[in-house]
Amino acid sequence: MYLTAMSSAENPTEKTLAELRVRTPESVTSLFAELREKANKEQRRIEKAEQFEQFRVKWVGRKSGILTQVTDNWLKPADAGLKRIVGQALNEFRNHLQSLVEQARQDLDARATQVADTRERVDLSLPGVIRPIGSHHLIRQVFQEIEDIFFSIGFSVVEGPEIETPYYNFEALNIPEFHPVRDDMDTFYIDLPKGAPVPLLLRTHTSPMQIRTMEKQKPPVRVIVPGKVYRRDNPDATHSFMFHQVEGLAVDTDITFCDFTGTIEYFVKQFFGPSVKTRFRPSYFPFTEPSVEFDASCSFCGGTGTAAAGGTCSKCKGAAWIELFGAGMVDPAVYGFVNYDAKKVSGFAFGIGIDRLAMLKYGIDDIQVFFQNDVRFLRQFP
Ligand code: PHE
Repeated sequence: MYLTAMSSAENPTEKTLAELRVRTPESVTSLFAELREKANKEQRRIEKAEQFEQFRVKWVGRKSGILTQVTDNWLKPADAGLKRIVGQALNEFRNHLQSLVEQARQDLDARATQVADTRERVDLSLPGVIRPIGSHHLIRQVFQEIEDIFFSIGFSVVEGPEIETPYYNFEALNIPEFHPVRDDMDTFYIDLPKGAPVPLLLRTHTSPMQIRTMEKQKPPVRVIVPGKVYRRDNPDATHSFMFHQVEGLAVDTDITFCDFTGTIEYFVKQFFGPSVKTRFRPSYFPFTEPSVEFDASCSFCGGTGTAAAGGTCSKCKGAAWIELFGAGMVDPAVYGFVNYDAKKVSGFAFGIGIDRLAMLKYGIDDIQVFFQNDVRFLRQFP
């Protein structure tokens, strides 16, 4: 009883007008005015979303909101004489509440935007984050230089797998199983589960891509193949178990030894500059015939063999020449492996050692620095 009395006293909307002893239009108007004042006051105190929700439910909630109570307790049981005036006041009150709710919603939204804006504002007076700008590794840069030179004379770039089968790495290149050149080249074989169909190995050169390219396309072929290769070499100033090559292959119906030497010389002069001298020495590779070893005049001593300070040049060891790479005319036997007609086509191939070339061009005397990733070294080649 006590509780009901309390809440009724606080909530006149739980009582009827008769119970409230409201009998004149004036007292109806002032009753609504009081209610409106109360709503205004509460609306002004809204700061957070939860308060807004409480306010909304309390005043316009459909089930037991004050608006509903006013309809049920004031309007519906009102005397005929007062009904019209109560109805009118109720309508105005409803509109007023709706605009209070709407206004509160907008205020809250504005406040949230303001908070977010402040939080996300870019403070232009703060010092920026200085990020060091990276650059390509020297090996990558040399690859790029070489690719650009060969692009300019009609070659395109292809890449191939670093894990190969013996067939592509050896057999199809005319290196049968017990051929002695395999001794230099035998490499890292992959541990495979028992019963694996073929052994796999890390490629010892980029030459397998000669075969893969010719298997895929008919002549004319003009490709270069940049990539990593692996050999069982012990690391020292000029050896590493992983290094880089660019393979080259040109096959067409009328490629001669002159095209071959002309292409190679063009490349070397573009790469090292016009003053470099070049020479071919006879050599041997099972997949080229004739085969050559290509030398350039030593860029450290200018092809004299003598160091600037006197004595023999330490780079070419007084030879005046530096061995650059192996090459040759494609051995006709190789065409047999890729179904090219050896009577109709001819071509040349070369395998350039990139690390060696980069060392020569940039005066680097230890191949290991390429792989140590010491930034003091890398920074010198931005
Ligand atoms: N593949 C050979 C090597 O790595 C180089 C080479 C490539 C020789 C193409 C001739 C033709 O030693």
